[in-house]
Amino acid sequence: MSFIDLSRERRSVRTFEERAVEQDKIDLILEAGRIAPTAANKQPQRIYVLRTEEAMTKAREAAGRMMHNATTALLVCYDSVESWKATNFGEPDYDGGEVDAAIVTTAMMMEATDLGVGTLWVRGFNAPRAAKIFELPPNIHPVCFLVLGYPTEAVLAKPHTPRKELSETVTVL
Ligand SMILES: Cc1cc2nc3c(=O)[nH]c(=O)nc-3n(C[C@H](O)[C@H](O)[C@H](O)COP(=O)(O)O)c2cc1C
Repeated sequence: MSFIDLSRERRSVRTFEERAVEQDKIDLILEAGRIAPTAANKQPQRIYVLRTEEAMTKAREAAGRMMHNATTALLVCYDSVESWKATNFGEPDYDGGEVDAAIVTTAMMMEATDLGVGTLWVRGFNAPRAAKIFELPPNIHPVCFLVLGYPTEAVLAKPHTPRKELSETVTVL
């Protein structure tokens, strides 16, 4: 499938089949994140694979109902010691870590889609609280959960959520 068709096919999945995502597919999803570009190639992403009951219970403590009935999720974080900063450009407060983590998450989300694995990107949680629940070191910052699982037929039958026209979001100068 072409990338544009894959992009059209992708959708957020909030109801999953019971069967777990196979380890070889998780490995490919992680590989897509590994080779994703990051600012100055710092690779500050730190990804926690949650696929045990214990880990998913913690994910539910952190993000509640956003985990839906999934049995697998990735907690995508960045390491603020390693992430690229814009200090040399006069922006001492800019930390590229969150953007890098988002790029990595996007790559993993699209790889999952290509493998027929449904995803839900979740930012609806309190990140400092999640860091506490997962006992992360202070330099590791949660950015999102990427919830993974096989979509039910009913999810696939639903229409895609609408998008704005290009004219509303793109300006040619
Ligand atoms: C940065 C980001 C954060 C999101 N956080 C949540 C979330 O916390 N809960 C949720 O149900 N969906 C979340 N979503 C999914 C969006 O609501 C969804 O992508 C959007 O409505 C478009 O629908 P689609 O993914 O089916 O095309 C998030 C998506 C992104 C990119």
